[in-house]
Amino acid sequence: MKPERLWWKEAVVYQIYPRSFKDSNGDGIGDLRGIIEKMDYLQELGVDVIWLSPIYESPNDDNGYDISNYQAIMKGFGTMEDFDEMLASAHAHGLRLVMDLVVNHTSDEHPWFVESRKSVDNPYRDYYIWREGKDGKFPNNWGSCFTGSAWEFDERTQMYYLHLFSKKQPDLNWENPKVREEVFRMMNWWLDKGVDGFRMDVLSLLSKEPGLPDLGPVLNGYAVYNACANGPRVHEYIQEMRRKVLNRADTITVGECCAVTLEEAKKYASRDGREVNMVFQFEHMDVDSDGENKWTDKKMDLRKMKEVLTRWEKGLEGIAWNSLFWENHAQPRSVSRYADDGRYRVRSAKMLATCLHMMQGTPYVYQGEELGMTNAPFQSVSDFRDLDSINAYRDLVKDQKVFTEEEMLRFLRKKSRDNARTPFQWDDSENGGFTTGTPWIMVNPNYKEINAKEELADPASVFHYYQKLIRLRKENPIMVYGTYDLLLPESETIYAYTRTLGKEKLLVVCSFSGEEETFDCPEEFVVTERFLTNCETEIPEKCPEKLVLPPWGAVVYHLKG
Ligand code: GLC
Ligand code: CA
Repeated sequence: MKPERLWWKEAVVYQIYPRSFKDSNGDGIGDLRGIIEKMDYLQELGVDVIWLSPIYESPNDDNGYDISNYQAIMKGFGTMEDFDEMLASAHAHGLRLVMDLVVNHTSDEHPWFVESRKSVDNPYRDYYIWREGKDGKFPNNWGSCFTGSAWEFDERTQMYYLHLFSKKQPDLNWENPKVREEVFRMMNWWLDKGVDGFRMDVLSLLSKEPGLPDLGPVLNGYAVYNACANGPRVHEYIQEMRRKVLNRADTITVGECCAVTLEEAKKYASRDGREVNMVFQFEHMDVDSDGENKWTDKKMDLRKMKEVLTRWEKGLEGIAWNSLFWENHAQPRSVSRYADDGRYRVRSAKMLATCLHMMQGTPYVYQGEELGMTNAPFQSVSDFRDLDSINAYRDLVKDQKVFTEEEMLRFLRKKSRDNARTPFQWDDSENGGFTTGTPWIMVNPNYKEINAKEELADPASVFHYYQKLIRLRKENPIMVYGTYDLLLPESETIYAYTRTLGKEKLLVVCSFSGEEETFDCPEEFVVTERFLTNCETEIPEKCPEKLVLPPWGAVVYHLKG
């Protein structure tokens, strides 16, 4: 069967975290005019789509994921005129723009919530989820993803409201048709402006179990996702959104689906097009967690990683569509997490890129990943800005005493979301060229060596490797549409797989090891030509029988068929 060609399957998405991308006016905060300045850079990299983390008006409890006005721009980021100019500039550069749609919750400063909390008969009361306490306690045992109960008591009406995230992020009541209409109207307003699609924040949490029953033992942190995700009406809501909003234009839509199973993902991102184009799932991000606890420095087990990614590759093949990512604004830097951010930083960053971009799905590049940016050397708790990190520290060290201060700092350095949020490193001038003022969060001191200016000038840089991968994708439909098959599932050091499209095949071999490794190439590939490698001088141009991979080596051979 010939695959149906769709532009959003062939695209590469670049995620911008505006706060940390480029500051144009010296106030230490990235902004829209900063993005406009860097449009040429994105065009040079060759990506097709920009996903902007939220830029709406927000009191910034969760850096913009708490929205107080969906149709206004955050003060520090600029104006609506700046936005229009940025959108026009993106389009002029051949880039599409995707908005972050955060509608599981609003800010508690959103006018809907300000009204809602006023009285039980306020017209906006049912926009949110209000309940009486039970025997002087919380309405149920749900915990918030950011620690503590998911319920907050509100003095005025003596009732609790639900917040799966911080107490400044009350959950919207999607069962109320008025809420859905408001959201759809707002989405249409952005489409009228000309935006090209939406990345939908925690989409899988929109529908809550009727009656809001206790869910298992007391749940806290990210365990909440697992219990609350994929509620009974979520697909109905998204299908309604499809009919009332998305069908009118050729949009790109990606659902952030935490705690999604393969069976559920087939519904969210089904090829029949009734819901969203693709899921953004997180199972592979849990491979180095300790059960549901992400605060650990456990090492990733490559066999487990391969098992998870392969299950998603094979499970959705021909049925639905994957997003591919190692990084985003809520994950640490991949080269520090899975590879070597010291001696082999450049090579191992390229290896990770190869491993991911050669799979089936739409690849996402998170700002700075294309430079091989690393985790930051945070010294103390006061260096962190993210409420997830700060709350976890308070909860696990101060209140519950589960970890010592020293342990927790080690885990935060490894896993904190702030690792992805240090400013983009543009050049070797002060603050990495991000700002002329005081940056809102520390700049990684390695900007002197790792920065865009340096990498643009060096043909062997991580940047140019990404550029090449992105170009190859445009020239070789097999990278997009080829089926995926894992080789050597038991290897603890090598991730190898093939892609097949008709008679054409690719062999992808990636070493996750700091030692030399060997790999027996499948016979059919022997003497086929090299398609791509991160070790030009050490890896042969024609596929050998026995491949010797240098530390963190990666190679792709091409059987033209
Ligand atoms: C998603 C976002 C994260 C945010 C949360 C609440 O998980 O990726 O950054 O904190 O939703 O909106
Ligand atoms: Ca600024």
